[in-house]
Amino acid sequence: MATSGPTPPKSSYGPSTDIQEFHDVLKSSKRIMALCGAGLSAASGLGTFRGAGGMWRNHKATALATPEAFERDPGLVWLFYSYRRHMALQAKPNAGHYALVEASKRMRSFLTMSQNVDGLSQRAKHPRDQLKLLHGSLFDIKCFSCDYIELNNFDDPFHPLLAIDSDEDARLAAAANNGESTKVKTKPILPKNLPHCPSCKTGLLRPGVVWFGEPLPEDTVAEIDSFIDEDKVDLMLVIGTTATVYPAAGYVDEARKKGARVAVVNMDGLDGELGAASNLKRGDFLFQGDAAKILPEILKPLIGELKIPETEGV
Ligand code: APR
Repeated sequence: MATSGPTPPKSSYGPSTDIQEFHDVLKSSKRIMALCGAGLSAASGLGTFRGAGGMWRNHKATALATPEAFERDPGLVWLFYSYRRHMALQAKPNAGHYALVEASKRMRSFLTMSQNVDGLSQRAKHPRDQLKLLHGSLFDIKCFSCDYIELNNFDDPFHPLLAIDSDEDARLAAAANNGESTKVKTKPILPKNLPHCPSCKTGLLRPGVVWFGEPLPEDTVAEIDSFIDEDKVDLMLVIGTTATVYPAAGYVDEARKKGARVAVVNMDGLDGELGAASNLKRGDFLFQGDAAKILPEILKPLIGELKIPETEGV
C-alpha cells in the first residue's frame, strides 16, 4: 500500500551526524560495546593496515601477518614485528584512548573490544576486565610449537639480531606508502639464530598476536559472548576500523541483533570502506574524522571534560 504524506528528506533514511542526538542516546544507554581498530591509534603516529600506512619495506603489512609467512621467513616477520614493537613503545596513547578509559571507569557495562596489538589502551590504564584484546599483543611472546607464553615483554629490541634502525625504517615505510618502489635489501636472519622457546627448546618464539587464519583467544571470545548474551545492548561504537576482518567485525551484527544502534567514528565516510558497519541506517550515527578528536566530544555526557594525565598522551 502506498503511504501518504510528504517524502522525508533523503538524509533522514541514513545515519545521523548530530552530536546532540547522539548525546541523548548515550545518556539513555545502559550497556555499550566498542569495536576499535588501527584508526584509534593513528593520532598517536602508528600506521594503519589497509590504505595509506599499510606497507613495511615494500611488504604489505597484512601479507606478513600469517603463520605461513612466519614459516617461510621467520626472520623477516620478526623484523617487521620488531619495528612495530619499537614504534608502539615510542608512541603515546591519545585522547581517543583516554576517552574510552574514562567512559569505562564511569560505566561498568561498557565493553571495549580492540583489534589493536599496540598496547596503547593498556598504557592509558583501560580497566582490564573491560578491555578485550581480540588480536593479542605485540608485547606477549609465544612459542610457535608449544603452549609457552610470556606476557608483557617490553624488551626493545626483543633480541640483538632484531635491532632495527627505526628512522631508516620509518623513511622506507613512508616512501613505500607514497607508492615509491624502494629497493630494500633485508639481511636474512637464519632461523637457528632466532630466539627459541625456553620451555620446549625446539620451537621458535613468535609475537603473541593473532595472525590471519588463526582463531581468536578462546577465553576472550567467551567473555564477550557472555556480555552479549546477558542482556540487550544499547549502543555499538565502531571506531577506526574497516571492520573487514572476521570474526572481530562480526560483533557489529551481534550487537545489532541485541538491539544496538551503531555509531561509526572513522576518517572515512559512507563512500569509504566500513565493512560490517557500512549498512548504517536511520537511528545509527556516523562521525567522520579523527577518533582522537571525536571520542572526547561524543562521550562528553559520560566523561565530562577529558583530562589527559600530564606527561602522558598526545
Ligand atoms: N580516526 C579514525 N579513523 C581513522 C583514523 C583516525 N585518525 N585514521 C584512519 N582511520 C580509519 C581508516 O579510515 C580505516 O577505516 O581506520 C581504519 C583502519 O582500518 P585498517 O587499516 O583496516 O585496520 P583495522 O580495521 O584495525 O584492521 C583489522 O586487520 O591486519 C589485521 O590484525 C590486523 O587488527 C588488524 C585487523
